Amino acid sequence: MVEFKKANIKMASQNASNIVFRKDYTAPDHQIESIDLSFDLIPTCTEVTSKIIAVPQEDRKSDDLILDGDDLTLVSIKIAGEDSFPGQYDMRPGKLIIHNIKERTEIEIVTRINPRNNLELSGLYMSKNNYITQCESEGFRRITYFPDRPDILAKYRVVIRAPKDYKDLLSNGNLVEQGELLDGRNYAIWEDPFPKPSYLFALVAGNFVAQEQKVTLSDGREALLQIWTEPANKGKTEFAMQSLVKAIKWDEERFGLDLDLDRFMIVATDDFNFGAMENKGLNIFNSKYVLADENVATDQDFANIEAVIGHEYFHNWTGDRVTCRDWFQLSLKEGLTVFREQEFSADMLGDESSRAVKRIDDVRVLRNSQFPEDAGPMAHPIRPESYRSINNFYTTTVYEKGAEVVRMYQTLFGKDGFRRGLLEYINRYDGTAATCDDFLNAMAESNYEDLSQFELWYSQAGTPRISVETKWDEIAKTFTLTLRQNNRTFPGKPAPKPLMIPVKIGILDDAGNDIPLQLEGEDSPDGTSRLLILDEAVQSWTFRNVSTKPLLSIGRGFSAPVIFNTEYTREQLAFLARHDSDLFNRADAFEKLTLQMVDQFITDLSRRGAQNAMPSESYLFAFEDILNDDSLSPAYRAKVLEMPSENYIAENRVLIEPALIREACDLIKRRIGQRLRGSFEDKIKNNQTPGLYRPDAADAGRRALKLLSLSYLAYAQDAKAMQQVRNLYKNANNLTDRLGAVNIAVQASLPIGEELLSKADVEWKSEPLLNNKWLALSTQLRTQRGKRPTVDLIRALTQHPKYQDHNPNSIYALLGTFFRTGGPEFHRPDGMGYQLWVDSVLFVDKFNPQVAARLARALENWRRYEPTLSNLMYKALKYVSEEKNLSPNVREIIEHALT
Ligand code: PHE
Ligand code: ZN
Repeated sequence: MVEFKKANIKMASQNASNIVFRKDYTAPDHQIESIDLSFDLIPTCTEVTSKIIAVPQEDRKSDDLILDGDDLTLVSIKIAGEDSFPGQYDMRPGKLIIHNIKERTEIEIVTRINPRNNLELSGLYMSKNNYITQCESEGFRRITYFPDRPDILAKYRVVIRAPKDYKDLLSNGNLVEQGELLDGRNYAIWEDPFPKPSYLFALVAGNFVAQEQKVTLSDGREALLQIWTEPANKGKTEFAMQSLVKAIKWDEERFGLDLDLDRFMIVATDDFNFGAMENKGLNIFNSKYVLADENVATDQDFANIEAVIGHEYFHNWTGDRVTCRDWFQLSLKEGLTVFREQEFSADMLGDESSRAVKRIDDVRVLRNSQFPEDAGPMAHPIRPESYRSINNFYTTTVYEKGAEVVRMYQTLFGKDGFRRGLLEYINRYDGTAATCDDFLNAMAESNYEDLSQFELWYSQAGTPRISVETKWDEIAKTFTLTLRQNNRTFPGKPAPKPLMIPVKIGILDDAGNDIPLQLEGEDSPDGTSRLLILDEAVQSWTFRNVSTKPLLSIGRGFSAPVIFNTEYTREQLAFLARHDSDLFNRADAFEKLTLQMVDQFITDLSRRGAQNAMPSESYLFAFEDILNDDSLSPAYRAKVLEMPSENYIAENRVLIEPALIREACDLIKRRIGQRLRGSFEDKIKNNQTPGLYRPDAADAGRRALKLLSLSYLAYAQDAKAMQQVRNLYKNANNLTDRLGAVNIAVQASLPIGEELLSKADVEWKSEPLLNNKWLALSTQLRTQRGKRPTVDLIRALTQHPKYQDHNPNSIYALLGTFFRTGGPEFHRPDGMGYQLWVDSVLFVDKFNPQVAARLARALENWRRYEPTLSNLMYKALKYVSEEKNLSPNVREIIEHALT
């Protein structure tokens, strides 16, 4: 039995923390008209002077002006130009309260902060010697005392003073002046013409290079685009710049939304908690979503860059011009902007098959990570009711399920109706802070619909399950579909109500063609896909003139974020995988078929160690059929034929047994590789991408199909394939292939796996992006009998020069990937994986609670694992919960997991 040992921990500062409830929202008693900020940048002692104009509101409840502050040293306060005296203000934990603000008043506050010590990366911090800010959601209060809530919109003027070796001093809006001070330091003055909430403030100071480009906007104005990076990254911003230009054009064309600034800047940094941040006019990015060339970025990275650049740019209207009233409304900007990003990426791909690949990908993210969240202890509606730390609610529920909810408006109203609703929303709320209800009402009213029931998507958590029943009456030639919705109940919450669910369906005849659809009561058939609105607990639809044996295709294009409980036979799934005209549902049918087979293998393996189990002939036939179907794009075939992740398989099982899942997957891949060798070899030969590397969808698709084929052959331990893996690593002219080769070797436990990893260790020039890729690859090493356990290697790698132990990207790449992949290397019956988890969470929590809380989530679904593991996970969680100085962030996660 393991005992979880105490990690070597310094005392973390105890933050005051209370639970915040959505129902407790009250409007602010004072608005802030403007803020003049001036910074004297010094690493350990930066002085910040803030001059605010506070304006009491007519209907205020109190004359107290309440300012937030965290980790600040107060130097002085002046009220209406006079030095303050005792009794004029009070300090409470996290607050500065100034009394008697009954009229428009100027208040000047001087504080000192320590950017060098700021390892939380929230507020003003240092990345090497550059100054960077991150204010969402509550970082501004770590810069100065201010009412740090998104419903306070103020005009900003910013003065930055810095030593003379700081050449580039940036903030939001327009540069009004810059130059040298008498003492030789540099200064710059910025003014943002648009009032904004404090979470969108940004400041950057350092020495950068900028890639610049001018674009002409639809109204003829010219805007300057700049992407700033450290000099060493010069030449890696071309793709990001192209993506930005595309995003600007797309928002003009699709929604008529123009860039509203003369200058739009992006800064890349290696030290960043999340992906990127939409600060007005000055987006700050994790460098992995900006920097790319063929040697440091994979095809997936290129696609991510386009998506994230788009995402942050689209926030300019959905987030910045119209912002959120409070943080419970987070999905108002995030769900909407993720949806816009998904549509942008899809439009950049163009053809139907590539769009389907994008949709399959997005839905996989949802199913892999949002469905488990919604079924687990952290389940929350896309608009949460309460939180302890808002940072814990930047979740796949708020983002990805939120995007699905927004997509449903478009499914209901069509592209034009959606655009009308979005523009109505922007017209109504431009320059203000809005709510999810505001968005829904703008959509409903501009489309003359009653959406009061749809509102439940914002308040009910859990993935709806819909049971599907069909009946064909051969004589009457009718086909009846009955749907029943079942929504998760939560103890102490009112019983869930039926949701309004758009269900897109089609019906295939026995030759696999779509049947024209004619509902009872209709004079003639209309189309071959139909949107049914399920808005009651149970509902039936009857279709006429169905004269051959029908097969239902349901939830086409993933028309709603729900689970359809269908009871297809294997033959029916294989038929749908072959014939469904909806490319998403074809892939989905094949996935269901694979999951059924995995289940069968797991049962066989656990009962009698059936090492000679074989996928059915019909499965192999369906697989090969898709593999060789040249009418389907290589990208689509690669996507469909990729084995579901172990996590996704786990999610679909009642009891999770990681070792058995691994064994089943490996065996299936080996069998497929053995049986379909010829077809795979053919795909490898015919999907080469000679010549210059291009990250476009067509070439990326070919590489994906080639790597997929190589991977199945590698699992079969095919000697020729092993040689090909080695050669691919050696001769590749791009990182996708090179990294793909190592990945295959490691995951398929090829004898050359470790050799390729150590080659890559030496050969991948020391650069943060590659270091992190290498660390993530190392977590995929399989523990082989009699060899050193992978968990030991991971622990050892925390001392490796490629690992930066305070850097979020490093932590996510090594520890995050290891915990999240969730294989038997982590889920060990001796508890060593969980011991590493305990040590990591506690270690990271003492300097970066936000990142620690993300790591902490890896064990939250402990109840679903086999008893040995689940007991150990419980102990590990319990151990962490007993740590007295846990941050509120981690405490919230652990407590949810344990209750
Ligand atoms: N608002 C950012 C986005 O575009 C995410 C983010 C949140 C970044 C908090 C940093 C801190 O989704
Ligand atoms: Zn966002």
